[in-house]
Amino acid sequence: MLELDKIHCGDNCDLLGQLPRECIDLVVTSPPYDDLRTYGGHSWDFFGVAWQLKRVLKPGGVIVWVVADATKDGSETGSSMEQALHFKRLGLNLHDTMIYRKANYTPLTHNRYEQEWEYCFVFSAGKPRVFAPKKTPCTYAGQKTWGEPNMYKDNSGNLTRVKQTVINDDKIAGNVFTYEVGSRKTGDIAHPAMFPFALARDHIATWSNPGDLVLDPFSGSGTTAKAAKELGRRFLGFEINPEYCAIAERRIAQQVLELEAV
Ligand SMILES: C[S@@+](CC[C@H](N)C(=O)[O-])C[C@H]1O[C@@H](n2cnc3c(N)ncnc32)[C@H](O)[C@@H]1O
Repeated sequence: MLELDKIHCGDNCDLLGQLPRECIDLVVTSPPYDDLRTYGGHSWDFFGVAWQLKRVLKPGGVIVWVVADATKDGSETGSSMEQALHFKRLGLNLHDTMIYRKANYTPLTHNRYEQEWEYCFVFSAGKPRVFAPKKTPCTYAGQKTWGEPNMYKDNSGNLTRVKQTVINDDKIAGNVFTYEVGSRKTGDIAHPAMFPFALARDHIATWSNPGDLVLDPFSGSGTTAKAAKELGRRFLGFEINPEYCAIAERRIAQQVLELEAV
């Protein structure tokens, strides 16, 4: 078993092969999108990584896969959806197709509306073992409503109205999560595609318990690892580019939020 609470520098398929089966509670990760960036000329094997992730995930474990398509010859590639369907073919549930929305997206002024979001596929090995959702206030909290369905048959078979209920203070949040993007607030961190710290934190808090083991096989600047540490989870990060490994180790060593864009 690889040493825990550490970023391991190397190819993720090789490193995943060193893990025993069913040892990971949660994966929060974002692979390179199509061939938009090579991060120093490195490549990766989607089919190998997907197979290994399925192998190392515990029953009830979850994979959060953040991805988007390149546009080639005027058409989106559709590779994100192909990847999602492949995870399904491997036997994982496509538990939820969530959206990661960028509050401050970059305008590219093409001949279409600006790209404002990325997929955030949530795969699970059976039913997710942990679900501690974010909540949002109900607009009509405290007001009375008629339940659904409006009419039902009582014990005597007579149609009658259901009892009035009072609307709760809050409800489970919607599956579009919006974040500020960009690394300016994170000082000297030089990674071109960090995801927001709050995205990693929210998914780790939702799909895992303290003490669980969280993996990011495309660790980059170590956002997932840092959030996992902060939330009291164990972590493993795999990253092929030694420069990014060094950045991640530095970030993880920092004490608390510091300059993080939360
Ligand atoms: C989209 S970035 C991830 C950024 C990360 N979420 C963060 O917040 O910094 C993808 C990362 O995958 C790494 N990568 C590419 N091929 C890899 C491979 N075969 N094994 C391990 N990491 C790889 C790249 O170097 C890059 O840092």
